[in-house]
This record gives sequence, structure tokens and C-alpha cells, in this order.
Amino acid sequence: MAIPARISRQHKSRAPPRTLARFLLLLVLLLLLVVVVVVVVAMVISILSFSSSSSSSSYDRYKEYCKHDNHRYVYWGERIDCPGKHCDSCAGLGHQESSLRCALEEALFLRRVFVMPSRMCINPIHNKKGILRRRSNNGSSEDRWEANFCAMDSLYDIDLISRTVPVILDNSKAWYQILLKSTRLGKRGIAHVQGISRAELKEKCMYSDVLLINRTASPLAWFTECKDRANRSSVMLPYSFLPRMASRRLRDAAEKSLQIEALLRDYDAVHVRRGDKMATRKDEFGVVRTLHPHLDRDTRPESIQRRIAKWIAPGRTIFIASNERTPGFFSPLSARYRLAYSSNFSEILDPVIENNYQLFIVERLVMSGAKTFVKTFREDENDLYLTDDPKKNNKNWQIPVYTADGEGT
Ligand SMILES: *[C@@H]1O[C@H](CO)[C@@H](O)[C@H](O)[C@H]1NC(C)=O
Ligand SMILES: *[C@@H]1O[C@H](CO)[C@@H](O)[C@H](O)[C@H]1NC(C)=O
Ligand SMILES: *[C@@H]1O[C@H](CO)[C@@H](O)[C@H](O)[C@H]1NC(C)=O
Ligand SMILES: *[C@@H]1O[C@H](CO)[C@@H](O)[C@H](O)[C@H]1NC(C)=O
Repeated sequence: MAIPARISRQHKSRAPPRTLARFLLLLVLLLLLVVVVVVVVAMVISILSFSSSSSSSSYDRYKEYCKHDNHRYVYWGERIDCPGKHCDSCAGLGHQESSLRCALEEALFLRRVFVMPSRMCINPIHNKKGILRRRSNNGSSEDRWEANFCAMDSLYDIDLISRTVPVILDNSKAWYQILLKSTRLGKRGIAHVQGISRAELKEKCMYSDVLLINRTASPLAWFTECKDRANRSSVMLPYSFLPRMASRRLRDAAEKSLQIEALLRDYDAVHVRRGDKMATRKDEFGVVRTLHPHLDRDTRPESIQRRIAKWIAPGRTIFIASNERTPGFFSPLSARYRLAYSSNFSEILDPVIENNYQLFIVERLVMSGAKTFVKTFREDENDLYLTDDPKKNNKNWQIPVYTADGEGT
């Protein structure tokens, strides 16, 4: 404690110790100084010891979290839903986000760092071009973006996610160091587990003490490991978590788009899911069936106009996000509303957007800023939505209905 001693000498020489009151005041000040110095020294020591024990500088800011768990890790495989699912195919962004959120929740629950796949697989049926270059290229609606993968950090802001759940990517230097360390540690280095509940992983020390848990998830999809989501109290991350974690590049693109069309403060939004959700197939008698029998009807402009009339006043600006690729499909709505699509922002989006997952992430950000937001399906209690068909239906193939008055086809 050399510093406080020196300071005390200075103070003494400046303040003539005439009265007892002055002396006491000095004493109090001195004590305060000592306390401050001790606290500062303690902080410096803790920061230094943290960063020397850390295997990657990218964790430095998560020291509070990691101090308590000595950097233990959980790994679910190098691709979302794989291992587990057949690795050759992948689902749309929504499905993969459900799986990713499930894995993040588990990491949060186990207080482990999540080892995130560094790439996301892009399903070709969800990667048709068309929306953006509609104006310049008339025959482009069947064009596809070429990529089958994209970098996870082109979609999400990994640092932002890490403020809630510490994450490293599985192509990082840190990950290779952890793999090395785990082999050095032998039994306490890595545990390969399959079909073991997260509660067991947390409580049994044969798992809880291990540096790295290598998890093989459900053969269906990662998110089926979180099927107790119906139990609200076990949900740790809301659906809105990943949409809010969009990468800086995509967040900037959304913000600039809104500025360009001066939509920034006052617009409504409608998300119209058509495309894949309207898929039909013929049953054994050759009758066409679909999982969402009213969807085609309910997402046509005439039906949309009728449905939203009570929520959105004429003359309002509506941002429409849709996977419908027919040019001008929604134009009838422009008789009552001012319409905007992502194609209106193509000057900003074209240089930034490389695939439909990125495009949808931007559209989702724009929609999240709308005054009134109408979804295609009902997802939550307070939602406004276009069709009464349930979103989740994997089995019940029904005959599509096109008439306005119900089931009569
Ligand atoms: C538009 O389509 C027509 C006919 O399909 C074609 O001849 C023309 O070259 C296309 N224009 C552009 C800019 O692609
Ligand atoms: C994790 O376990 C799977 C088997 O489920 C195995 O194929 C994979 O190599 C393991 N990964 C690591 C990093 O040990
Ligand atoms: C719901 O989850 C909480 C916390 O995980 C648990 O304590 C409770 O028993 C669960 N309830 C049901 C009905 O599963
Ligand atoms: C968006 O572009 C369409 C033409 O593609 C135009 O009719 C519409 O007015 C534009 N919307 C806005 C808000 O500028």
C-alpha cells in the first residue's frame, strides 16, 4: 500500500493539524482513499486473472458470467439439426431458428458457452430471387441465389447474442483450442451424450464437471429437445430473441430502407405467406389436398383488403413482406393503400443481401417497426392475422377452399 502512504504524507504536510475536527476529517478522507485504492487493485487483479485463464479474448466482456463456470462448453453439432437429423437437407429459416433458440436456451440453462455452427444451411426452395430485382429484370422470378450455405455471422450479431448467451463459432481459434484441451483432460474433457435431459446434464457431476458436452440432439430436429416449450415457465428466450439479434449490416440496411421511403415513423405491415405453405398434393383418388385449405383464398388481395379494413385505415402505407413472386400480385390493394415492398429499397438492399434468409431478416426488422402488424397465421394471443387456418398442421391434408362462404368448395 505505497500509494495511500504517499498521499497521506502530502495531505498531512498541506493541512496543519490544529484542530481535532480537521484531524478527524483527514482521517476519514484517508480511509476513503484506502478503500478506493483497494477496490481498484482488486478489480485490476480480477480482470487480469480472468483474461489469462480465458482461451479467447472474445470472452473478455463476459467475465461476470464465465467467472462462475470456468468456461465450460456445450456443442450440438456443426450444423443446425445435425447431427440428429439427416444432414443433407435443411429447413427454412424459421425452423432453424427454433432449433438454434432451443440450443441457446440449453446453454443458458447449463451456464455453458454455446459452440455455434459457423454456417447456416440454406434450403434451395427458400432461396428464389425475384422480389428485389423485380423492376429491372422481368423474367427473374425463377432465379435463385446460388449459395447453399451462408456464414452465421452474416445473419446474426454474435457479440450481441453473447451478451445473453456466451457463444463461440465452431470455426474460431478458441474452438480448436478447446478441442485440444478436451483431449488433454481425458474423461473430464469431453462427454458425448445422447438422449439425456438437460436437468441431468446440469445436476450429475459426471456431466456438469466436464469441459465440453458434445450433444447429439433428437433425430427429428434440435427444437424437439425443447418440446416442453408449452410450459411457459421453462421458456428462457422469447421468439423475438433471434430477430432482434440481426447482424449489424442487416440492421443498418433495414434502418436505411425506412429512411429512404420516409416510412420511419408511420406505417403498417402485413406478412403474407404463400409459396411453400400452399403446397398441394393429390390423394389416392386424385383429389388435390393441402395442409392449409383456406390460405390461398385468405392471402389474395381482395380477401386481405376485407380482413384488414377494420385494423388499417385507407390511405395508410403498408409494407408487404411475402414469398409470393407473381409481379403485381398485391397491386389491387393499392386502390386503398400506399404499398411498399423490399423491392422499393433495392438500391440499399441489392448490394447487401445475398440470400433469402438475409432478406427475410431485414423484412422482419422492418415489420417489427410497424404501428399495426398483421401476420399470416395466428401465433400469439394478441396477434392480428389473415387466415384462421392453424399454422402448425403436419398431417391433416384437406381440400382447398376458394369460395367466400366457407366449406362448400
Ligand atoms: C423481358 O422479357 C422478354 C420476354 O420474356 C425478353 O425478351 C426481354 O429480354 C426481357 N427483358 C429483360 C430486361 O430481361
Ligand atoms: C460429437 O459426437 C458425434 C456423435 O454423435 C460425433 O460424430 C462427433 O465427431 C463428436 N464431435 C466432437 C467434437 O467430438
Ligand atoms: C414447468 O417448468 C418448470 C421449470 O422448468 C417446472 O418446475 C415445472 O414443474 C414445469 N411444469 C410442468 C407442468 O411440467
Ligand atoms: C414502391 O414501388 C412501387 C412500384 O414498384 C410503387 O408503386 C410504390 O408507390 C412504391 N412505394 C413507395 C412507398 O414508394
